[in-house]
Amino acid sequence: MTDWDQLYNDQNTPWEKGEPAPCLVDYLKNNVIEGEILVPGCGAGHDVRALAASGAEAVVGLDVAPAAIQLAESFSRTGNERYVCGDLFDLPASWNGAFDAIWEHTCFCAIHPTQRSAYVEAVTAALKSQGSLIGVFYLNPYDDEHQPGEGPPFGVEKEELEDFFLHEFELLEQWVPERAYPGREGRELMVRMRRKS
Ligand SMILES: C[S@@+](CC[C@H](N)C(=O)[O-])C[C@H]1O[C@@H](n2cnc3c(N)ncnc32)[C@H](O)[C@@H]1O
Repeated sequence: MTDWDQLYNDQNTPWEKGEPAPCLVDYLKNNVIEGEILVPGCGAGHDVRALAASGAEAVVGLDVAPAAIQLAESFSRTGNERYVCGDLFDLPASWNGAFDAIWEHTCFCAIHPTQRSAYVEAVTAALKSQGSLIGVFYLNPYDDEHQPGEGPPFGVEKEELEDFFLHEFELLEQWVPERAYPGREGRELMVRMRRKS
């Protein structure tokens, strides 16, 4: 399994772009994500701060790497955000049904594909009934040096996403975001889903 803390300590963090996901920035120009939001695998927390700045009631950035949390906490606050060091697969019981929304960005592609069902279970459990899962999924992160099956990041097919999520979630909309970090253009899928029960 990946030693995420070591990667942060070594500053070997190619995913770290120094700014929130462009598709999230665009989404927040026309939409508000209401209530308390959980951001699993928040890394340096740029998305957390973008959400907090958009007026979200409260935003919790979760990351398993202490060095990521330390980095996230080094930035100025933009609203009602906080960071927690912890494992998505071992959430506190008090987080059961606690969140109105989850923002997913490069946590799903970072975990090993064998953990994907556990990811769906964890985010479903953390959401309130009818809570929202909004996120951007990295469908195809592969290049000449990084082939399917090798990761992280691990790619996913749109149909696989549906297989994983649609038992627990109703798909409300999905689209290819207009803007992405350089190199990710056209390789991402943005989705908005609602917990069924
Ligand atoms: C590819 S990085 C993306 C970070 C951030 N979302 C971004 O785009 O900059 C994946 C993040 O997920 C975190 N992570 C991996 N497994 C996790 C787990 N089981 N629970 C919580 N965080 C996890 C890693 O420490 C890392 O910060």
